Amino acid sequence: MYILAIESSCDDTSAAVLRDGILLSNVTASQAVHEEYGGVVPELASRAHQQNIVPVVDAAIKRAGIGKEDLNAIAFTRGPGLMGSLLVGVSFAKGMARSLGIPMIDVNHLQGHVLAHFIRESEDDHEQPTFPYLCLLVSGGNSQIVKVNSYKDMEILGQTIDDAAGEAIDKCSKVMGLGYPGGPIIDRLARQGNPNAYEFSKPNIKGLDYSFSGLKTSFLYHLRDWTAEDPDFVEHHKEDLAASLEKTIVDILMKKLRMAVKQTGIRQVAVAGGVSANTGLRNAFRDHAKRYHWKIFIPKFSYTTDNAAMIGITGYFKYLDKDFASIDLPAYARIQNS
Ligand code: KG4
Repeated sequence: MYILAIESSCDDTSAAVLRDGILLSNVTASQAVHEEYGGVVPELASRAHQQNIVPVVDAAIKRAGIGKEDLNAIAFTRGPGLMGSLLVGVSFAKGMARSLGIPMIDVNHLQGHVLAHFIRESEDDHEQPTFPYLCLLVSGGNSQIVKVNSYKDMEILGQTIDDAAGEAIDKCSKVMGLGYPGGPIIDRLARQGNPNAYEFSKPNIKGLDYSFSGLKTSFLYHLRDWTAEDPDFVEHHKEDLAASLEKTIVDILMKKLRMAVKQTGIRQVAVAGGVSANTGLRNAFRDHAKRYHWKIFIPKFSYTTDNAAMIGITGYFKYLDKDFASIDLPAYARIQNS
């Protein structure tokens, strides 16, 4: 049984093919056009999706070694995301499914991230969590602790009340003049810096919720004062700034995660989303696994940022349940519980 999956919620056009839940291909076209603007420009993103979608889907099907007539279903990201971007993938999936006479499966993008740990590249690939597990979902748009009871039963235990972790990293990188997206740049610089060089404010929020806007402001004010004294401050100290910023964010994320483990008694802990590519966060996970006897799940780099493989595996689970989408289903930009 072959599923084609399509992801186009933000600035990556991605297509994947799975056979009986095993990944055969995953092709992603990223959009460099946003770099000069310091963030994703929605109109440019949807135009780039229009250009990329046909070649990306074509390449995914070819790499899987099949023809489009072999497909049994098409899974697609329905939301949340940028409406113009989503519409390209949703409309393409509808048109293709209709022309092939096969069912469609709508997938929630965030559910896809959380289930990325079930992506299998071969039959022998068994390193997967069992239910229930906790998942720290950290990306440019979300920072959540999710209790995953089954593939379709997920409970949000805590989430950011303002900025997402990735958003905070990107904004701090922007004020340092380092470019976009800031995550990979901060990660690279942080490896050469002292994480204890500077202290930035940490939030004091009750329960399992996060907040990153105070940190962002504290970073901005510190930087303003330091550059008033030394205009080249960033250039002279960017490694230490990056390392200290990364450490602060990782500390904030891990503190609430430790609380969630304590409250639920669940020691299987996964991480997902774009920020899970971060070296400091990955090291903190390994360190917690040793220290607190957690069983951890860290995705491969290619499955951390937006990708169609995670949409495909979620679509596969829904296919087994015959949970199909009707042709009149609209895309949605904001978080829904479906
Ligand atoms: O999940 P994702 O690809 O997409 C959206 O949220 O739309 O996450 C993107 C986020 C960006 O904020 C980016 O800066 C961050 O993930 N990111 C990283 C790293 N790689 C990507 N943050 C920290 N360290 C990284 N290595």
